[in-house]
Amino acid sequence: MRKKGLILELLGFVLLELFCIGLGETYYHNWNITETSYTRLCSTKKILTVNGQFPGPALHVHRGDRVFINVVNHGTYNITLHWHGVKQRRNPWSDGPAYITQCPIQAGSSFRYEINFPIEEGTVWWHAHSDWSRATVHGPIFVLPKLGTSYPFPKPYSEVPIIIGSWYKGDIMKIIEEALLYGGEPNASDAHTINGQPGYLSPCSKAGTFKMPVKKGKTYLLRIINAVMNEEMFFAIANHSLTVVGSDGSYVKPITTKYIMITPGQTMDCLLKADQSLSHYFMASRAYVSGHVGYDNSTTTAIVQYSGSYTPPSSPSFPTLPEITDTDSATIYTKRLRSLASKEHPVDVPKSFDTRIYTTISVNTLPCVNSSCDGPNGNRLSASMNNISFGDPSIDILLAYYKKIKGVYGTDFPNEPPYYFNFTSDDLSINNSTTLVGTKVKVLNFNSTVEVVFQGTNLVSGENHPLHLHGFSFYWVGWGFGNFNKTTDPKGYNLVDPPEINTVPVPVNGWAAIRFRADNPGVWFMHCHLDRHASWGMETVFIVKNGKSRLTSMRRKPKYMPPC
Ligand code: C2O
Ligand code: CU
Repeated sequence: MRKKGLILELLGFVLLELFCIGLGETYYHNWNITETSYTRLCSTKKILTVNGQFPGPALHVHRGDRVFINVVNHGTYNITLHWHGVKQRRNPWSDGPAYITQCPIQAGSSFRYEINFPIEEGTVWWHAHSDWSRATVHGPIFVLPKLGTSYPFPKPYSEVPIIIGSWYKGDIMKIIEEALLYGGEPNASDAHTINGQPGYLSPCSKAGTFKMPVKKGKTYLLRIINAVMNEEMFFAIANHSLTVVGSDGSYVKPITTKYIMITPGQTMDCLLKADQSLSHYFMASRAYVSGHVGYDNSTTTAIVQYSGSYTPPSSPSFPTLPEITDTDSATIYTKRLRSLASKEHPVDVPKSFDTRIYTTISVNTLPCVNSSCDGPNGNRLSASMNNISFGDPSIDILLAYYKKIKGVYGTDFPNEPPYYFNFTSDDLSINNSTTLVGTKVKVLNFNSTVEVVFQGTNLVSGENHPLHLHGFSFYWVGWGFGNFNKTTDPKGYNLVDPPEINTVPVPVNGWAAIRFRADNPGVWFMHCHLDRHASWGMETVFIVKNGKSRLTSMRRKPKYMPPC
């Protein structure tokens, strides 16, 4: 009797598992992490790459597929990879953030990731998730509609990844190491790049400029990814408008626009119709900077080239980009994002919530011996959520949780800030910017509904923060400038067609509210996707408990996980 029940359960499990994964293809790849010489901005250096490529290899899958990637680390640094925007249902073991879900893959060893795509459709991406190695270790993931289904727009003639990145002349690992040692701001990058190339306006870069050939009358799908380390970016193409149709691996109602604003971590799928006269046109991208901070002020370019016989202009026309400090243009664009909310791509926004977390997101300071640090007033720069600056644990939180190892993390991440003040005031004193270092997580019940309200503060410097959550996409239901008012602001929420995303741009000195259902058991990182803020501790972790059945529980630990 018992045996029969067991067999039935097993059969059900197998069937459900197949159903969830969706009977797609399975692919196997071998990725070698190597240090490879690249020349940019007139000088040559070694950078960390996957298979010698920068940007790294693109993955092409259909919704429902599964990919195994064996990562072999031939470099000298420890590394992990993360599949940004892939929910990794029940499988945090392959999610990748160092010291959160795994110990890094040490130099000379390897680790196999399993990545499933049952839910996402559009553009997601992958990047290293240890130190600052993601600057050069990243690449796009095209998730095409399941076989037999199609896009919610006419099939584009061709699809082109547009990866916006950062190039540093110096050694990236040293830049962040030194910044953390002396407590000051890390150096800004020396150029932004499109598909690895600074483009026309940077020294020694003209020849390498990325060129996109187009045929008049055809429509192209640009899969735009912001892989920049520390700046939000504006992007536009001369004489052409863009039609945004997707973001973060889900569809949006089409938006026709002259420019977009995209934060690190975000992806935007944009249709480009080649409907102008035969010529060359610049696409260009430069920073949107909302804080009083150092930044890379370079403009990166690429060229859209119509095919046909004509004399190309000696200098192609250049798009109008919003000013670097133009917060109005940034928010005018982002507030237009809406979910498609169609029959095929419905929304499922929680109408209420079991838990609300109201969390400040701040840049802070920590005291420094003899005030000898490079931050404000000789202090050390830091960052926090609810005034806790996340400190890396000694082993990964996932293993500690799974094996019930005590003393690695605390479960007391608070639901609100320790004290209330006018968070977005213009005259906050630097003396009140001190924070506390701790490794605290928030535990959520399986299937509970959660609202998180991110509250930007003007401590040290207010700034737009792109907050990213692993393991989920969430609905961005509201935002505003100033302090969140829990009585009046929720009345303005969009619960009808809010965008379903994984990275939310919290406006400078403002707030953003998101909702999701905690239906993915595991350990999931949440952090600002500006890397300097993440390095300073603007991070926390959600532990989503198991449900009652096996299918609502985390998968078992793989036999091999890299040791710390
Ligand atoms: Cu692309 Cu933890 O992030
Ligand atoms: Cu930030």
